Amino acid sequence: MDESKIINGKEISDIIKAEVKRETEELKAATGITPGLAFILIGDDPASEVYVRSKGKACDSLGFYSVTEKLQSNVSEIEVLDLIQRFNDDNNIHGILVQLPLPRHINEEKVIEAIDYRKDVDGFHPVNFGRLVIGSSSYIPCTPYGIVELLKRSKVNTNGANAVVIGRSNIVGKPIANLMLRKEINSTVSICHSATNDLRDFTLNADIIIVAMGKAEFIKSDMIKEGSVVIDVGINRVDDTSKQRGYRLTGDVDFNSCFEKVSKITPVPGGVGPMTIAMLMKNTLDSAKGKIYR
Ligand SMILES: NC(=O)c1ccc[n+]([C@@H]2O[C@H](COP(=O)([O-])OP(=O)(O)OC[C@H]3O[C@@H](n4cnc5c(N)ncnc54)[C@H](OP(=O)(O)O)[C@@H]3O)[C@@H](O)[C@H]2O)c1
Repeated sequence: MDESKIINGKEISDIIKAEVKRETEELKAATGITPGLAFILIGDDPASEVYVRSKGKACDSLGFYSVTEKLQSNVSEIEVLDLIQRFNDDNNIHGILVQLPLPRHINEEKVIEAIDYRKDVDGFHPVNFGRLVIGSSSYIPCTPYGIVELLKRSKVNTNGANAVVIGRSNIVGKPIANLMLRKEINSTVSICHSATNDLRDFTLNADIIIVAMGKAEFIKSDMIKEGSVVIDVGINRVDDTSKQRGYRLTGDVDFNSCFEKVSKITPVPGGVGPMTIAMLMKNTLDSAKGKIYR
């Protein structure tokens, strides 16, 4: 196996976290400011608990201050909004993250819009999303931001490249498509979704394919062209009796069949996944520095 084809997200995210840690020490020494991140976790979804715990651990290891407010799944919307307001007003908090998904009786849009956009380190607030689209300074959602860093740091030539994004979610597909359009990346972008006629027509012409579908191993070798770069965002659980836990994690790309053809590819796990937390830390540090909004 030609290891040089693998874009190692674990390694790149460790480098970014080391940079954030160093800059955090410098910020503390120069100003006395410690980056602070508040997590709001509602209900007892085990996956959400794991995500919040690992983000909290990242805060500890980088020297951030963090606080987690765990609310019962039957909490009222108004209580959630009040808590967000408390963190909006707290000068020790530079980033607020409400772990999604929310219980059905709580309106996600209302909750996201209640977060002060200057503390919206997830980059989901419409102000940040709009600023991203017009190319102004904003918090960039962490997964798309991580993809951009993977491409840059792996020296992928994006200039004039045909980039195909599969998936149009607000957290991955739409923002990454807009970022790929930016002058400094300069790709020609197509966005595909479940109503796209003949997906292969797009993928076979793609120099860069970014897949965020949530469909295990959907992209096969006969759908991609020789020498393409494949970024696999998908995280899927598939049954696997050979594993003690009874399942394995896999991406939206059939890694083994595509490997021969690609020039570069991200694995799952160990590709895009680890970058998401690293970029959350970077956004929070930038907030503490007043780098995005002064
Ligand atoms: N690594 C990370 O940190 C990270 C972060 C976020 C998400 N993820 C993973 O990324 C995957 C996607 O999540 P998401 O939230 O971005 O998207 P999502 O909301 O799950 O939506 C899936 C997208 O894929 C499209 N799609 C589904 N089947 C398709 C098909 N056969 N052909 C073409 N397009 C198709 C859908 O089209 P329609 O719009 O037409 O329905 C939709 O836009 C999931 O596996 C998720 O777990 C990973």
